[in-house]
Amino acid sequence: MDLANTDPNNRDKWALITGASSGIGRALAYEFAAEGYHLFLTARNRQALEAVASDCAAKFTVQTQIHLADLTRHDEIDSLIRALSAAPLAFGVLVNNAGFGVKGTFLGTDLGQELGMVSVQVDAILKLTKAVAPGMVARKQGHILNVASVYSFAPVPYQTVYGACKSFLWSFSAALRAELNGTGVTVTVLCPGVTQTEFRARAGIPERNKSAGASPEDIARIAVRRTLRGDILIVPGLPNKLFVFMARHLPISVFHHFITLVNNLRGVNR
Ligand SMILES: NC(=O)c1ccc[n+]([C@@H]2O[C@H](COP(=O)([O-])OP(=O)(O)OC[C@H]3O[C@@H](n4cnc5c(N)ncnc54)[C@H](OP(=O)(O)O)[C@@H]3O)[C@@H](O)[C@H]2O)c1
Repeated sequence: MDLANTDPNNRDKWALITGASSGIGRALAYEFAAEGYHLFLTARNRQALEAVASDCAAKFTVQTQIHLADLTRHDEIDSLIRALSAAPLAFGVLVNNAGFGVKGTFLGTDLGQELGMVSVQVDAILKLTKAVAPGMVARKQGHILNVASVYSFAPVPYQTVYGACKSFLWSFSAALRAELNGTGVTVTVLCPGVTQTEFRARAGIPERNKSAGASPEDIARIAVRRTLRGDILIVPGLPNKLFVFMARHLPISVFHHFITLVNNLRGVNR
């Protein structure tokens, strides 16, 4: 009998979380630790990662490991994957959360930045999933949580490549979920709307209403509960659900006007 499959408290199970140094990723680390998962956390900011790791270890009596990696760099993605196989851990959870935005007209934005974004939000996710999912399938248990966005369903003028990365993630995740059906491994896509993290400040995206958006803690609480339940798609909050509904049902020419209007009203396109 595979004891890892029957442990109700997730003892000896690890959660690998990218982008765990701030925002939604940090909040997810606390929630998975509260569920009894040991934490393998990665990002670039050592001080912030160490603070999350030591706080979770103290509060929830879990083990923690950190690994610094800049996921815009393929050599650093590969060294992260080598570190995972050097200390083989039973990953019960993989969270692909790290991400950042690039704002501006496609003809005006920096290609290097956008390729870096594709590396973080596409390449790293593919490589980590290929590295971690086979062990989950072998143990007949696991949860993959991919942090996308309401923009997964909407072409986004002035954030064209960001929106495209998030659409890729939804399509990839939904297809992978179907392939893994019956293996005991689930794939869940979290599609938050505006959330109060460092994301917009880092991307230089202004927002007229500074207090708009959900807290990362609320998003993480919902996400962990529903990921462990094996849901496929999480869109937290009624306004975000309405946005996704319109994105999926309105003709694209109409939706383009709608999203441009909404983002103009928010002050996002300035
Ligand atoms: N906030 C929102 O309104 C919102 C809405 C929808 C979706 N999302 C998505 O939510 C996810 C988390 O973002 P957040 O809102 O929590 O923003 P955040 O506070 O800026 O956190 C982003 C995380 O990603 C990590 N990261 C960024 N660039 C990285 C790189 N090159 N290499 C490795 N790690 C990197 C950061 O860590 P280091 O800087 O330490 O490397 C940080 O831990 C992203 O995928 C984002 O697209 C956010």
